[in-house]
Amino acid sequence: MNTSPLSPVSYETRDDIALIRVNNPPVNALSHAVRVGLADAFDQFDKSADAKIAVILCEGRTFFAGADIKEFGKPIAEPWLPEQFSRIEALDKPVVSVLHGTALGGGLEFALATHWRIAMPGAKVGLPEVHLGILPGAGGTQRLPRLAGVEKALDMITSGRHVGAAEALEAGIVDEISDAADIETAGMDFARKILDQNKGVRRTGDLTVAGVSDGIFDEWRSKLSRKTRGQLSPLHCIEAVRAASELPIIEGLKREGELFKELMASSQREGLIHAFFIERQVGKLPELAGVAPRPTDHIGIIGGGTMGAGIATACLLSGVSITLVERDEAAADKAQDTIAGYLAASVKRGKLTAEKRSAILDGALNCVTDYSALSDVDMVIEAVFENMEVKKEVFAKLDALCKPGAVLATNTSYLDINEIAAVTSRPADVIGLHFFSPAHVMKLLEVVVPDATAPEVVATGFALAKRLRKIAVRAGVCDGFIGNRILAKYRTAADHMVLDGASPFQIDKVLTAFGFAMGPYEVADLAGLDIGWATRKRKRAEGMHPSARDFTYADKLCESGHFGQKTGAGYYVYEKGKRGGTPNPQVLELIEAERAEKGITPRDFTDAEIIRRYMGAMVNESANIVAEGIARRPLDVDMTLLAGYGFPRYHGGPMKYADIQGLASILADLEEFAQTDAWFWEPAQLIKDLVARGDDFASLNR
Ligand code: 3HC
Ligand code: NAI
Repeated sequence: MNTSPLSPVSYETRDDIALIRVNNPPVNALSHAVRVGLADAFDQFDKSADAKIAVILCEGRTFFAGADIKEFGKPIAEPWLPEQFSRIEALDKPVVSVLHGTALGGGLEFALATHWRIAMPGAKVGLPEVHLGILPGAGGTQRLPRLAGVEKALDMITSGRHVGAAEALEAGIVDEISDAADIETAGMDFARKILDQNKGVRRTGDLTVAGVSDGIFDEWRSKLSRKTRGQLSPLHCIEAVRAASELPIIEGLKREGELFKELMASSQREGLIHAFFIERQVGKLPELAGVAPRPTDHIGIIGGGTMGAGIATACLLSGVSITLVERDEAAADKAQDTIAGYLAASVKRGKLTAEKRSAILDGALNCVTDYSALSDVDMVIEAVFENMEVKKEVFAKLDALCKPGAVLATNTSYLDINEIAAVTSRPADVIGLHFFSPAHVMKLLEVVVPDATAPEVVATGFALAKRLRKIAVRAGVCDGFIGNRILAKYRTAADHMVLDGASPFQIDKVLTAFGFAMGPYEVADLAGLDIGWATRKRKRAEGMHPSARDFTYADKLCESGHFGQKTGAGYYVYEKGKRGGTPNPQVLELIEAERAEKGITPRDFTDAEIIRRYMGAMVNESANIVAEGIARRPLDVDMTLLAGYGFPRYHGGPMKYADIQGLASILADLEEFAQTDAWFWEPAQLIKDLVARGDDFASLNR
């Protein structure tokens, strides 16, 4: 038995079987200490005269979930995984891996290098490195195609998807699904069988790669180049698998290593790993530690329009009962039909069975017109028109009839939730739950916390998000909270560029090439141009700042009935049955007329300047939001933009992007732009302070 109490790896021999156990909670990542422990254990096994076979298994919830991602970006200490795995494969005595939980990345690569693999029934395997901006760099791209064929390897490695035990067995990735009671019995029984049957070693690297057809790599390349929007890792994955099909294992591993190093050095790897960690950090708030949320089993929703129906669907799909209140019977029936339609679409996509849909519609959903039906609900989410008077009226009614302890939430996009809370006798129970449209699809939930809200009400917002499989971000109250307030700024930066000479189409093209799911004008067409029109009207009515640059070309589009996709034309013209639109020539005419009227001589914008201005405006407002405490940490801003605004995940979010660029260069851009528009481009004090002390946004996440 290995006696080092500090090592996460232990070694013992039972008769002629060596049992190597790893215990590195929570997910048995292959950290430096684990690699050192494994090297010792396999040395011992190699030298042992008694041990004829080794069984390797991991304690706790999973087999190795991969390399230790926390070590990335720093020099990685030896022993390195690729060499270690090749050494295990080359042993003269067989090694058996026992897979349970999620054998991912380096974890699966480890197993592929051992000679036999058995899986527990619930085990999943996968090579998810692509989502971290890298590729499987410890032999996965060379050994998986040898075991499962090129097509399967390309599918698994470029998608990163988790594959269940049955599929893994069918693909030849594992040799057996064990029906033993526990992993140790499974491993020991299997090892005994291998010894009894004298099966010995079986090296994956000795196999030839099957399933290589003409043009398969080019096909995958062209299929993925469109989908991945500039992300490097999927295409590098294809190259690595191509190498497996063309080279002997030793050279293939070398090529895999070169491609791996290129990706490790890329900023995309930094951005994607940042995204991985902040997704797990965003819900960890000191104020919520140890605070128990209130129940969310029965929720009332007020208003069954675009948002109310979507929120109801999201809740119903997660087992929450819904009582939805509308203004009249017709509206209640319409809401019921919309929700039934969304649920039918879920059945079509295989997310819900037809029986479950019927059960929900018969029992869990109740669309009514009488507010008294809400007297016993755990929580209410209000989604009526965006109008303060209407919302106040609704909250006064809720205050009068909801049971004590019910959480009263509003889905307002912009309104002051403190003002809404003040009409109730229980402001501690009032909170903003800002869902995004379509609410049953979009991942983001801004949990907007007014001054008097109780911690357990905030915890309830986070718990509901988790239940709905959404990502919750804590936001403070201000006009637009985190996301929409930042959006307003970068949209304005784009609008200014259009006034000054760029076309909306150039801007959309540049930003989609940068990695955004859509450009701002495509988004405007999708959301409906009437929304921006209403905002401009509101701002004019409130009295705009003298330095704000107003424009009316987009109003004119609306005045002629063009609201974007829903009317068939906006910035783009949409033909029925075709995906996407073509630039609407009327837009350029309207813009040119407005420039002439305002005496603006249009100038050219390079693609690089468009990005500098768009990102500059975004980063600057993000910094203000953090400084004001609307977002507690830069990572909250990053998560908001990633989960709700189509920000390219491989840039990590605006604040991570700024850190990667260097805050000094962002500040220099802001100062340059401020020379012609000092009001709009005034650099955030926080950026100035961080640059002065040589710090970055990341320092505020710690
Ligand atoms: N390295 C370091 N830490 C890791 C980790 C890893 N590979 N995987 C998970 N963790 C950490 C998480 O950050 C989290 O830490 P926290 O508690 O401090 O927030 C903790 O482990 C638990 O993780 P989750 O909250 O995600 O737990 P779940 O049970 O929901 O999910 C999981 C478990 C499915 C294993 C999920 O964590 C996961 O997908 N992990 C990443 C798997 C992965 O990408 N592996 C490939 C790594 S790269 C590689 O192997 C390179 C190789 O090819 C050379
Ligand atoms: P909508 O106009 O589609 O739906 C509002 C619904 O509320 C209508 O069906 C209406 O009949 C009902 N209603 C109005 N007054 C009511 C009352 N007193 N009692 C019961 N029902 C009443 O509006 P939408 O888009 O769903 O927006 C609702 C709220 O969600 C607004 O506050 C909006 O700002 C916010 N929001 C909207 C988003 C969007 O993309 N549409 C995104 C995020 C938030």
